[in-house]
Amino acid sequence: MIRRPRRNRQTEAIRSMVQENTLGTQDLIYPLFVIDGQNKRVEVSSMPGIYRFTTDTVLEEVQACVELGIKVFAPFPSIPEQLKDKYATESHNPEGLFPTVIREIKKNFPDVALVTDVAMDPYSSDGHDGIVENGEILNDETLEVLGKMALIQAQSGADIIAPSDMMDGRIGYIRQVLDDNGFQKVAIMAYTAKYASAFYGPFRDALGSAPKAGDKKTYQMNYANSREALIEAELDTMEGADYLMVKPALAYLDVIKLLRENSHLPITAYNISGEYAMVKAAAQNGWIDGEKAMVEVLMSIKRAGADAILTYFAKEYAQYLKK
Ligand code: PBG
Repeated sequence: MIRRPRRNRQTEAIRSMVQENTLGTQDLIYPLFVIDGQNKRVEVSSMPGIYRFTTDTVLEEVQACVELGIKVFAPFPSIPEQLKDKYATESHNPEGLFPTVIREIKKNFPDVALVTDVAMDPYSSDGHDGIVENGEILNDETLEVLGKMALIQAQSGADIIAPSDMMDGRIGYIRQVLDDNGFQKVAIMAYTAKYASAFYGPFRDALGSAPKAGDKKTYQMNYANSREALIEAELDTMEGADYLMVKPALAYLDVIKLLRENSHLPITAYNISGEYAMVKAAAQNGWIDGEKAMVEVLMSIKRAGADAILTYFAKEYAQYLKK
């Protein structure tokens, strides 16, 4: 035998020398759920270790994460039912929860970057990412709402606007709104290939944002498709996206790789709520080693070609690195 691959696996020193990929805190984006009120941290029951923070406690959480080396955060608001309506009006109220949280974080931590979600569902009485009329999700009418949301977020200090709604033409529309208002420097991270997934469940629990009727299959992608992701990538790129995202991540590693090989833009991947919950649930049952599974999952997403990973594991991974 001339070729013996095991020679390169003999010791830790050798294994780490030939390791192809690495993952540090600079690769991670930490999602943060925020709620109204004061001095609260409410754990999400389907996501052990993940909390809904109020405007004051979220600052403590950001501080703790910054000390661990995390520099980029993605806040998501949980809006009380009575503030929701058909047109997600609360989404562009400058004094609303979300703009307030963005301003507070940027005021206290000017060096962190904020990736802010643009989609109607947390504010919509229908629980959809667009305006619903007779059971149909209207595309072009929804763009106007998304444009208003994006503008309020940029005015509040967001660094990167992240439309997660999957309406056609929204990247170009939002780019235009931002540019017309002097926000040329605010970037757009497009949720490019966002699939209609069963793994969003715990997120929708956390925000109370599940659709009241129907599903999201007329706008989120069919998970049987990968070429379609290239169409979305082409459009988002032409329309001015600065980053392309794949979501979910784990069941879509092939799509991450596909976009990596077909685009020169940074590729991000969203390791979503259900993927987090699966690892946590199995670990709590003693069925897998949760920490090892976390590291393996995150590294697999990096290996597939993601430049950055949005993950609920960000803080725990940063703590693991410190050990
Ligand atoms: C909403 C949105 C969703 C997520 C991020 N933005 C849920 C959905 O599309 O229903 C899910 C994230 C997660 O599951 O962690 N536009």
